[in-house]
Amino acid sequence: MANAVLIKGGTVVTAEAETRADVLIQGEIITAVGPNLDAPAGARVLDAGGAYVIPGGIDPHTHMELPFMGTTTSEDFFTGTSAAVAGGTTTIIDFAIPNPGQSLIEAYQSWRGWAEKSVADYTFHVAVTWWNDKVREEMGVLCRDHGVNSFKHFMAYKGAIMADDEVLVNSFRRAAELGALCTVHAENGELVVQLQKQIFEAGISGPEGHPQSRPPMVEGEAAHRATRLAEALKVPLYVVHNSCIDALEAITRARLSGQIVFGEVLAQHLVIDDSVYYNKDWNTAAHYVMSPPFRSKEHQAALWRGLQAGMLQTTATDHCCFCTEQKRMGFGDFRKIPNGTGGVEDRMTVLWSHGVRTGKLSPSEFVAATSANAARIFNMYPRKGTIAVGADADVVIWDPEGTRLISKDTHHQKIDFNIYEGMTTTGVPAVTLSRGKVLWENGQLDVVRGAGKYVDRPCFAPFWQTQNTRNAHRLPVKVDR
Ligand code: URP
Ligand code: ZN
Ligand code: ZN
Repeated sequence: MANAVLIKGGTVVTAEAETRADVLIQGEIITAVGPNLDAPAGARVLDAGGAYVIPGGIDPHTHMELPFMGTTTSEDFFTGTSAAVAGGTTTIIDFAIPNPGQSLIEAYQSWRGWAEKSVADYTFHVAVTWWNDKVREEMGVLCRDHGVNSFKHFMAYKGAIMADDEVLVNSFRRAAELGALCTVHAENGELVVQLQKQIFEAGISGPEGHPQSRPPMVEGEAAHRATRLAEALKVPLYVVHNSCIDALEAITRARLSGQIVFGEVLAQHLVIDDSVYYNKDWNTAAHYVMSPPFRSKEHQAALWRGLQAGMLQTTATDHCCFCTEQKRMGFGDFRKIPNGTGGVEDRMTVLWSHGVRTGKLSPSEFVAATSANAARIFNMYPRKGTIAVGADADVVIWDPEGTRLISKDTHHQKIDFNIYEGMTTTGVPAVTLSRGKVLWENGQLDVVRGAGKYVDRPCFAPFWQTQNTRNAHRLPVKVDR
């Protein structure tokens, strides 16, 4: 008989409800959810008394082993998915990013190869960084044969992976045909380059030049442009790592006008503000260089409200680790500091502590924001993102009173600092199961290299086509004369 686990006495939380129920797992799947379940012979019984039982987290935005800005992120798929599990996250959506001119399939295959060492499940968005007929065709192949239903567009990083309007329009059109979801990093890449130059020439070479050259309107312009392009081309859109009021306004406007537009917020943008760039210690300030940058508290408050109001649906980390030595590549010129911060291990505890404990989010809203909404938006639901019969047994026993002092000295992430260093959080994963196996318990990891599986995500054509009738009044009108 397959390995069986019975989780007894907890409160099961899904995006819809909180219920006192036991959860029975057989093999990799949840086979029963209900009161007073009996343990099959030989089953392991886990006591969840006083705890919540929630779906394993889904982080829809990570970058393990990413070659970027002249170096490669320090976290690989083995260490990164292990750290994720220690934080209660059991699925990551990473990004396969071809260089301009490179085949999308070739890039996707490279990332698939690197990810084979993962200890928990993973899947990929594929970036569109250039355009020709081959890219068009390969988008179709990725959807049809490889379970890719989302394509990423970087509107920043000019001269590297930036998608200009020509790429955006062609790719959005193609995604609409395929029933795939377009995602964007919204920052105006041209403005960034010119503002960086201006600020550098004004004598600012330290990390404080980073946020000064990427003010909120740089992000707002791109978010508005992307949502308008998506409207014109009748394609759904997902805007990653919204950091400011300006981007939130673009998403809100689009949603209120009937568009299918989703927004992601990073845990770190909710709790860390832009004062970090003015630290006198260069290394400490550089640790926070990421794009879009940390913002003032006013923007943070708006992001919380956006999450509460449902204008932002997912929380992510953009886990993109560069160690101090790597950050120092930009000593003397902030434009060369590799962009990225970590936190795949910290997202859920930070969100519970600052979101649920403060009354901003209910436990069900926490589940929606940490797993269920990402599972729905990226078409993994109900296999992932819920506690239900037939779902993958990615389950976390969540101790709402447990505490953690976040530190580089105790985290499992492969990076020599932690952006939350010294923060004490309340609400921690006591036990994490990935497809029925206990991988985290009593503060210890018990993981197997390569045990993670690739998750296929089929396209959504029927759903999007139905929704696109919302734009029917904008169809062209011909007058017969
Ligand atoms: O600074 C960041 N966010 N680095 C990772 C790449 C990206 O833009 O998502
Ligand atoms: Zn980005
Ligand atoms: Zn990213």
